[in-house]
Amino acid sequence: MADQDARNGEDKRPTEIPALRWEEPPEGPVLLLLDQTRLPAEEVELVCTDAPALVEAIRSLAVRGAPLLGIAGAYGVALAAARGFDVAEAAEALAGARPTAVNLAGGVRRAQTAHQGALARTGDTRLAAAAALDAARALHREDTEASARMAAHGLALLDELLPAGGHRVLTHCNTGSLVSGGEGTAFAVALAAHRAGRLRRLWVDETRPLLQGARLTAYEAARNDMPYTLLTDNAAGSLFAAGEVDAVLIGADRIAADGSVANKVGSYPLAVLARYHHVPFIVVAPVTTVDPDTPDGASVEVEQRPGYEVTEVTAPQVPVTGAGGGIPVAPLGTQAYNPAFDLTPPELVTAIVTEEGAVSPVTAEALAELCARSRQV
Ligand code: MRU
Repeated sequence: MADQDARNGEDKRPTEIPALRWEEPPEGPVLLLLDQTRLPAEEVELVCTDAPALVEAIRSLAVRGAPLLGIAGAYGVALAAARGFDVAEAAEALAGARPTAVNLAGGVRRAQTAHQGALARTGDTRLAAAAALDAARALHREDTEASARMAAHGLALLDELLPAGGHRVLTHCNTGSLVSGGEGTAFAVALAAHRAGRLRRLWVDETRPLLQGARLTAYEAARNDMPYTLLTDNAAGSLFAAGEVDAVLIGADRIAADGSVANKVGSYPLAVLARYHHVPFIVVAPVTTVDPDTPDGASVEVEQRPGYEVTEVTAPQVPVTGAGGGIPVAPLGTQAYNPAFDLTPPELVTAIVTEEGAVSPVTAEALAELCARSRQV
């Protein structure tokens, strides 16, 4: 492990560009996105001047991860309003750009409601656009605060479950500052453990097919000087069997009313492994990811992605040759099964950590109580 640590994270530049920012140059307002499809090769920004550009950025995963999708959706409505486009049309396109993360439609709805309310009250489109922007900024700020609170609650839970300390945490996909106004969800907990001197190792699943773990989580771990090791998704089993995992920390795209968790495909197998090996499986997500209107896991729409993401390697450094813009790794015409997410049933989840505290055991009643508490704040 020492050799690996020596090689790990050679590039320690702080991430200078935030995942998303709103600017108002003289030509008109724009939403700037750190293009996550280009990471870790280069930090470049995409400039969105209208909702269709943002929809495309969402679909291509230039901007991604549940909390950030919510924030982006809200700013997208504000952008349409500020530039005089049809706000209802923009909102519908944005909310439907990806189906699984409930935060996206939630963020869009919040800004649209603010816009409609101000328009009805004042009849002034400029005031209505300002109200949509205020709503987006409020969501952005709240997500930043939620992130810090999730980190504190999550670390307290880790310390309680693993009193011996020296946590070895396995994570999947990417859940850090690239998906949040703050330092993220599951990653923020691992980072808090690291800062407290209690993270022995962050095991990072590469997260096929789009490599959010290898490209993005390793990138964030390196920049935070964390002790991390990358593994292929299918190496997780042997890692558990070797007794090298103390806890699994993942995020969520939607948590149904019964506590079922939709997250990046590959999360459910980790939950099964964790249960077999008596390891806590902890989900970290803001309350905005809990969807009381989705009764159970079977009701969650799981996004199906194009097959070429599986039949080709589409990392930013590889030269473009295949139909999807990558190097083919399967015979031409191969069909692929490519769901972007899977569902983990509540009985496999040790705890759900939110900014309002942790729910454990995970039950519909406990989640409903948490949501009610959050609405009162
Ligand atoms: O397809 P992606 O990259 O948007 O998927 C993201 C995830 O699955 C994350 O784990 C989830 O959004 C939680 S992020 C805090």
